[in-house]
Amino acid sequence: MSTGEKEKVLIRPMTRNDINAVLALDRKIGDGRSSLSYTDMDSTNPGGPADLSIVAEIDGKVVGFILTRLTYLMIPFTEVCLLQGMIIDPAYQGRGTGSQLIERLFENCRSKKINTIRALVPEFNKELREFVEFHKFHRSNIINFDKTFDNE
Ligand SMILES: CC(C)(COP(=O)(O)OP(=O)(O)OC[C@H]1O[C@@H](n2cnc3c(N)ncnc32)[C@H](O)[C@@H]1OP(=O)(O)O)[C@@H](O)C(=O)NCCC(=O)NCCS
Repeated sequence: MSTGEKEKVLIRPMTRNDINAVLALDRKIGDGRSSLSYTDMDSTNPGGPADLSIVAEIDGKVVGFILTRLTYLMIPFTEVCLLQGMIIDPAYQGRGTGSQLIERLFENCRSKKINTIRALVPEFNKELREFVEFHKFHRSNIINFDKTFDNE
């Protein structure tokens, strides 16, 4: 590709066929380990009615994704789009692909009249926090309490 020529990015809904590519990206940023499994991903039925997950593809290769879930929450009782995770391949970061993905999610939510997108962002993940803040997400007043059974 010549200098200055922009790669064409295809933003499209995630399907089951993308699961391995998504897991590979998760392993890539997790130093070879993935927090997701094929079964976890498959059970969410990517591309199904409760799913607005999307991928970014360049030259037929999946280079990024946003994993989402539509759900009803009691705080307040409303339908929200949970943004469960997002990764752009480090080799493709900083060229606007993440922004294209998130803008598409905004469009999809607006067209389905879903008024809230709730991003689950690990507190220590400065990169992702700054990205969502850049895209005008604001810190909400919901405090997350986790009960874990690791040491029992
Ligand atoms: C955060 C992430 C999604 C951003 O994707 P990206 O394609 O690199 O982002 P973009 O190129 O679209 O950046 C968009 C804008 O956000 C801002 N931005 C992005 N990352 C930023 C950062 N770390 N600090 C400050 N601003 C940032 C920039 O201002 C940029 O605008 P500009 O290009 O006009 O300067 C990507 O870096 C990533 O996947 N990081 C790892 C995320 C992760 O840990 N996921 C696992 C847990 S869910």
